[in-house]
Amino acid sequence: MATERTLSIIKPDATRRNLTGKINARFEDAGLRIVAQKRVLLTQAEAEGFYAVHRERSFFPELVAFMTSGPVVVQVLEGENAVLKNRDIMGATNPANAAPGTIRADFAESIEANSVHGSDSLENATNEVAYFFAQTEIVG
Ligand code: TYD
Repeated sequence: MATERTLSIIKPDATRRNLTGKINARFEDAGLRIVAQKRVLLTQAEAEGFYAVHRERSFFPELVAFMTSGPVVVQVLEGENAVLKNRDIMGATNPANAAPGTIRADFAESIEANSVHGSDSLENATNEVAYFFAQTEIVG
């Protein structure tokens, strides 16, 4: 299995409830390393650009409003099979469908306020990491 890097975002519902450390522990306990991390307020343009694939969806305006409603922690996770491993740790988009023990099952408030983002393919991971981080900001 290859070592991969994936983009993770701890979303505003989770930073508001002071869950950053608990969520990071899930990643580290699963063997993923946090090789870059910054706490930022996304601008409207940054959130719209990041979720551009969803711009025609009915939930897009609310999603952008939510993602800019408070601080997020943007991070790069590194490890074996990191993209799929992180998706497993996160759980399904809708917390009602998320497997027990996943971040979303344990922490998410709703399908929108679902605590974490994680890249869904290696190709998207590469693009999403580059969207937020310069190579020099990632220290493996
Ligand atoms: P999506 O890429 O489908 O899910 P995931 O985050 O699991 O990769 O959707 C992106 C985000 O859009 C999702 O995390 C929350 C939001 N969203 C809604 O608010 N309502 C919805 O019906 C869907 C499908 C997503």
